[in-house]
Amino acid sequence: MRHEHIISAKQLSRADIEEVLDHAAEIAADPEAYADRHAGKLLGLLFFEPSTRTKMSFTAAIKRLGGDIVDMGPVEYSSVKKGESLADTVRVVEGYADALVMRHPSEGSAQMASEFVDVPLLNGGDGAGQHPTQTLLDLYTIRENAGLDDLTIGIMGDLKYGRTVHSLAHALTNFDVHQHFISPESLQLPRSVRYDLHEEGATIREHTALEEVLSSLDVLYVTRIQEERFPDENEYREVAGEYQIDAGALEAASDDLTVMHPLPRVDEIDHDVDDTEYATFFEQAHNGVPVRMALLDLLLEGQ
Ligand code: CP
Repeated sequence: MRHEHIISAKQLSRADIEEVLDHAAEIAADPEAYADRHAGKLLGLLFFEPSTRTKMSFTAAIKRLGGDIVDMGPVEYSSVKKGESLADTVRVVEGYADALVMRHPSEGSAQMASEFVDVPLLNGGDGAGQHPTQTLLDLYTIRENAGLDDLTIGIMGDLKYGRTVHSLAHALTNFDVHQHFISPESLQLPRSVRYDLHEEGATIREHTALEEVLSSLDVLYVTRIQEERFPDENEYREVAGEYQIDAGALEAASDDLTVMHPLPRVDEIDHDVDDTEYATFFEQAHNGVPVRMALLDLLLEGQ
């Protein structure tokens, strides 16, 4: 891995992505072969926002590589509550760990924090910015189910605040992919993301109704409306529950459609989709372990 830190999907070339995905596939095929690979190594967890998948799959990943975690724990029981700055926190914790995973509510925080540390820092989500390690497991799941070239994907829901969307859309520009974005007008892609995608030569279309594109999709990537990012609760209420799919709504889809979601879901995918052939979101979440094992292995080896 040529990168010291993993901050944004924008830094990842096609070769970088394929290196991680190929290595994740090797690990998934024979996880026992990697059981002692990083014995004694410690991964520092700095989660300033709630997480289930990112935190637990990184924990599982380092433990399955023979290492362990040191966890700052909940913010309210850390010295962040005494006013310690983010820069000081990461400078201290890099002395306790061989790599750091950080989730923080401020966009740009991971980039800033990485400038204060020498150990690899992985962005586990920075506000409405980026979530690059989620993107790698998303790409792994897409490659396993639909392939990554000559692909038509619909990305639906909160495109404005959804960091998984911003990362995935950038990463997909490395492949031959047609991207359709489906959202209420108030939650369309930020102008900066749309500009970057155009600069990368991406083929993108924007829609307000899933029916306009559903039958042409190989993958439908559904996202939660990010209630916690809305400055005004009334704005959230106006769009909450607007984009929901159930098994009936998918009758117009191709039989080969892959339905993904970074999770957690609220009500945007009905539980009746879970038992269909389309549902791939739990497999997607489980893929977080081999993909994060691969990433940690490559970063720790490169140290
Ligand atoms: N997909 C994802 O980032 O989930 P968590 O918020 O539970 O980590």
